[in-house]
Amino acid sequence: MSAPELEIKGVSRVFPARRGGAPIEALAPTDLILEKNDFVTILGPSGCGKSTLLRIVAGLDTPTTGSVLLEGKSIKGPGADRGMVFQSYTLFPWLTIRENVGFGLRERGMKASDIKDVVDLYLDRVGLTAFADHWPKQLSGGMQQRTAIARALANDPKILLLDEPFGALDNQTRGLMQELLLGIWERERKTVIFVTHDIEEAVFMASRVVTMSARPGRISSVTPVDFPHPRDYHLKADPEFAKIRLKLTEEIRAEVVAAVSRG
Ligand SMILES: Nc1ncnc2c1ncn2[C@@H]1O[C@H](COP(=O)(O)OP(=O)(O)OP(=O)(O)O)[C@@H](O)[C@H]1O
Ligand SMILES: [Mg+2]
Repeated sequence: MSAPELEIKGVSRVFPARRGGAPIEALAPTDLILEKNDFVTILGPSGCGKSTLLRIVAGLDTPTTGSVLLEGKSIKGPGADRGMVFQSYTLFPWLTIRENVGFGLRERGMKASDIKDVVDLYLDRVGLTAFADHWPKQLSGGMQQRTAIARALANDPKILLLDEPFGALDNQTRGLMQELLLGIWERERKTVIFVTHDIEEAVFMASRVVTMSARPGRISSVTPVDFPHPRDYHLKADPEFAKIRLKLTEEIRAEVVAAVSRG
């Protein structure tokens, strides 16, 4: 049998004490296996280690124990096989939208004409062809996040890691962005880990919703979401959808209450 796409094995993270304080156990030993084309969303109270886990998978941080295997090989640092999208807008302000999307390809030494083809394709997929030669500051927040998603996808990563990518957007834009990203996933079938605080978003996007408990963060439940694809916003009004959303709302509420009462 071939190795799973991504294997998180006993990954924990303790941040060393600062100024006489106690060390912070951000993440308790965590196991999670993602098969190819999985779309895992992660929900959990603030500070439960979601970003820490994502940063470890991205290779931007090192686990205190355990390891992350991508197609059976241990992750040692960042790589083009994993694309990351953050909540805050992280475009290079001195590069145009086109140059931002093509950044990773240029770094890897791809020929200019090939870069243009890939960039054109992804600008089209995120609906930004007309803005290719604009500067990031000329774009709305939603458009900048679409650019960040196009930039991550242009590198053709095996895994897409998104940390609250739509957190700063208004509700309407957020709904459209969910459908846009899901549309791209339905087409390209990437493996995705998507962190969010929005329960509806977590259910709508996911093939599995993972919830985490408060510090030290650990996985508290895994809920399969089997609605067929393609999905659109009508799904959010489905009674089965409401049931899953309610179950997760209760779980997360309990976690948040526990976190608040622990202080
Ligand atoms: N570099 C660091 N040094 C020390 N402590 C850190 C560091 N990064 C994170 N932490 C701590 O680890 C815990 C988990 O942080 P993390 O950012 O992973 O949480 P999160 O689940 O992403 O929270 P949020 O939902 O607010 O984004 C927090 O208590 C945080 O203060
Ligand atoms: Mg976070």
